[in-house]
Amino acid sequence: MRVTVLGAGRVGLTTALSLAYSGHEVTCIDKREDVLDSIRRGQPTFYEPGVAELLGQTNVQFSYPLTPESASARVLMVAVGTPPLADGRADLSAVESVASDVASLLPDGGNTVFTIKSTVPPGTSRWIQNLIDDSLAANNAKVTVAANPEFLRGSSSLMDTLCPDRIVLGTSDAASKATLLELYQPIVDQRFVFPAEITRPNRSRPVPVVTTTPLNAELIKYVSNAFLAARLSFVNEIAGLAERVGGDITQVMYGVGLDPRIGSSYLAAGVGWGGPCFGKDTSALLRLAEDNDYDMPVLQSTIAVNQRQRRAVVEKLERTLGTLQGKTVGLLGLAYKANTGEVHDSPALAVASGLTAAGARVRGYDPMAEAAAKRWYPHVDIEYSRSALEAAHDCDAVMVMCEWQEFKELPLPQLASVMKGKALLDAKNVLDRRSVEQSGLTYLGMGR
Ligand SMILES: NC(=O)c1ccc[n+]([C@@H]2O[C@H](COP(=O)([O-])OP(=O)(O)OC[C@H]3O[C@@H](n4cnc5c(N)ncnc54)[C@H](O)[C@@H]3O)[C@@H](O)[C@H]2O)c1
Repeated sequence: MRVTVLGAGRVGLTTALSLAYSGHEVTCIDKREDVLDSIRRGQPTFYEPGVAELLGQTNVQFSYPLTPESASARVLMVAVGTPPLADGRADLSAVESVASDVASLLPDGGNTVFTIKSTVPPGTSRWIQNLIDDSLAANNAKVTVAANPEFLRGSSSLMDTLCPDRIVLGTSDAASKATLLELYQPIVDQRFVFPAEITRPNRSRPVPVVTTTPLNAELIKYVSNAFLAARLSFVNEIAGLAERVGGDITQVMYGVGLDPRIGSSYLAAGVGWGGPCFGKDTSALLRLAEDNDYDMPVLQSTIAVNQRQRRAVVEKLERTLGTLQGKTVGLLGLAYKANTGEVHDSPALAVASGLTAAGARVRGYDPMAEAAAKRWYPHVDIEYSRSALEAAHDCDAVMVMCEWQEFKELPLPQLASVMKGKALLDAKNVLDRRSVEQSGLTYLGMGR
């Protein structure tokens, strides 16, 4: 099937590669020349296992701008960004812009499914459909808007698009539904040899497909992120209590998670959630509720608890050291989670700001995220180091902010020997307290 993907960011590129790998003829459009140049050189603009390899194995055409030919593909996949506006609402200008491009370029008689993969507030598909219908009034072309939200995780995008845990198709139009089911059939059936670079996850086959209205599909995406964020905020709230009464949150949640009604994933306490999606999507959902005169206290608390958790980490270190004024703190991990170079809304960078505001000097090290941290957070005052040991050198305290494998395997006696002080704050609960203490350091965890 001929498909045009709009946007070549994390979602657009992995979607384009996965659809091409599963047998479709894919063109991918992005307005940023630097993004296209880098991809054409075989270098994706983000770190992700397997993406560079699949670029070499598939035949996606990368170009700009959209043309009448690329606009009249059977399916258009919209994967442009929907970043937060200052008031927390989603900025839909890129979606609106590609919609008007399609409406103006689609030739007479053209027929395409404008499939919104970007995360958009419930009601957006209906709004875009009206917008396109108005522009097409004088043209004998047909565009049906469908919602097809993306659920990939930032550190395993390709694995999640090639073998998703579900596919959600939101359309009330029978022909569009049939087209999208045909598009996804190879992925639903897992009808291909999985790329050697990626491990196929152990997920149900065939991949479950949810067919519903566009509005329900849009809600499914927002609710999934809000639910996961709420779950983590609840665990972090309990972690604070466990700490005060002498409990260990890791053992508590292990016991809680064995209940099949609860399940064991997304129960880890720590510095809280972050990244490019949870913060912006929970805020956008809250604003949508406000616009509809509806109060969402659980969602409000989910966000508030997460902000408090970031402050709590800084306060914990301040209590331990007496003061942060004039202290040197090494931050190990700047990305919002391991196996990604993504720093947007990273708790580590919020903590770095909190530390410097309290008078500390911050050294930082991340195996992948240094360039992104410098680019997106130039105002956060961090002295960058080339290794964990270099960052820890002469530090009064070291904080492990991210669950990178190399931090789980830190050479603790060596770390202790290069540090000036003794405090090791494990903000993701990834270290073994006994090993830390045996190396002569003081262990500080989250809720344990
Ligand atoms: N990153 C994730 O983990 C993730 C997961 C699920 C859903 N999403 C959602 O998917 C969407 C895309 O996310 P992303 O992380 O890929 O964003 P991104 O910002 O990395 O990429 C978006 C791309 O769209 C391009 N673009 C913008 N306007 C354009 C236009 N008019 N024509 C052509 N190209 C245009 C930009 O140049 C950019 O390269 C967002 O709505 C996001 O919330 C993201």
